[in-house]
Amino acid sequence: MATAAARCQLLLVAVALAPLLAGVAGVQLSSRFYDRRCPKLQSIVRSAVAQAVATEPRMGASILRLFFHDCFVNGCDASILLDDTASFTGEKNAGPNANSVRGYAVIDAIKTQVEAACSATVSCADIVALAARDSVNLLGGPTWTVQLGRRDALNASQSAANSNLPGPGSSLDTLITMFGNKGLSPRDMTALSGAHTIGQARCTTFRDRIYSDANVNATFAALRQQTCPQTGGDATLAPIDVTTPDTFDTAYFENLASRQGLFHSDQELYNGGSQDVLVRMYRRRASTFFVDFAKAMVRMGNLAPSADTPTEIRLDCKKIN
Ligand code: HEM
Ligand SMILES: *[C@@H]1O[C@H](CO)[C@@H](O)[C@H](O)[C@H]1NC(C)=O
Ligand SMILES: *[C@@H]1O[C@H](CO)[C@@H](O)[C@H](O)[C@H]1NC(C)=O
Repeated sequence: MATAAARCQLLLVAVALAPLLAGVAGVQLSSRFYDRRCPKLQSIVRSAVAQAVATEPRMGASILRLFFHDCFVNGCDASILLDDTASFTGEKNAGPNANSVRGYAVIDAIKTQVEAACSATVSCADIVALAARDSVNLLGGPTWTVQLGRRDALNASQSAANSNLPGPGSSLDTLITMFGNKGLSPRDMTALSGAHTIGQARCTTFRDRIYSDANVNATFAALRQQTCPQTGGDATLAPIDVTTPDTFDTAYFENLASRQGLFHSDQELYNGGSQDVLVRMYRRRASTFFVDFAKAMVRMGNLAPSADTPTEIRLDCKKIN
């Protein structure tokens, strides 16, 4: 019979190895997951994001979007960070992500720092969740407690990325359905869309809106047409929020009220439908928007990979161990 000490030792070995072994998904998240495992984690992420955002404010927007595009494709499992391999075509080159999602290098650099502080302990998926929270806060938005303990997927899916992420031409019904498919309410969807108060978009994503949409402010359309011609200039950027694209505030909802949503999908939230009341409320009260946004981010962050997804703590966010 094993002595208590031997059993204890075995247990310690098992605990130490656990993060290295490929396990199954479905773990319970906790805000204190790394308190003892990696006490410096949150300060490492915070200062790295602060530096990136100081260099280029838009990077905060890019990291926030990266988190959304990770979570909507088989859960927040860092699948979006994997480069293509012989065995799968990854998500980086999927329609909604190619030449569009940014911030991979910032996440990879944070991962390097985190590995130096506590090796083989912190998932890439958790780093993205923390970096998204810090991005919002550093640009003037709310903060919240991030639930931690996610694990990284060993696979990724370009086709899932193509089918699970809403496009800028989406109708209100489609938006409600696509978020509903992820267990998120219409209210979560409208609050999360407030993320479009920061960041930039390519002409190709809003051309239809400024040339042929109904319900668009003519002055605004003319302004955007100046740098987004009917043909060519696909990659030319415009701020999604016409007034304060580097500040996380309620201007997005203000814009919707004056028909200045940049995407058709944005304006759908204020077009005589079920979300009009909420848009008016968020526009009036930043505190309500901030509370709802934070709650919805936590809910989106709880999206877990399917139970049969093999997982690990990836050592390099770009490739499996
Ligand atoms: C509601 C459905 C949504 C649609 C249809 C949508 C669509 C888009 C599109 C088309 C772009 C521009 C991409 C490009 O130029 O290539 C964009 C940018 C962005 N999206 Fe969304 N999005 C949605 C929801 C969200 C959510 C839920 C978040 C985060 C919580 C988010 C955060 C962002 C940010 C921050 C940017 C700017 C990124 C940057 O500047 O790099 N979006 N979105
Ligand atoms: C990864 O594989 C699992 C199990 O086969 C599957 O359920 C999951 O959808 C895959 N991940 C992606 C991103 O498709
Ligand atoms: C259109 O946008 C301009 C600002 O570009 C604003 O002053 C005006 O009130 C808007 N019009 C409508 C109908 O909301």
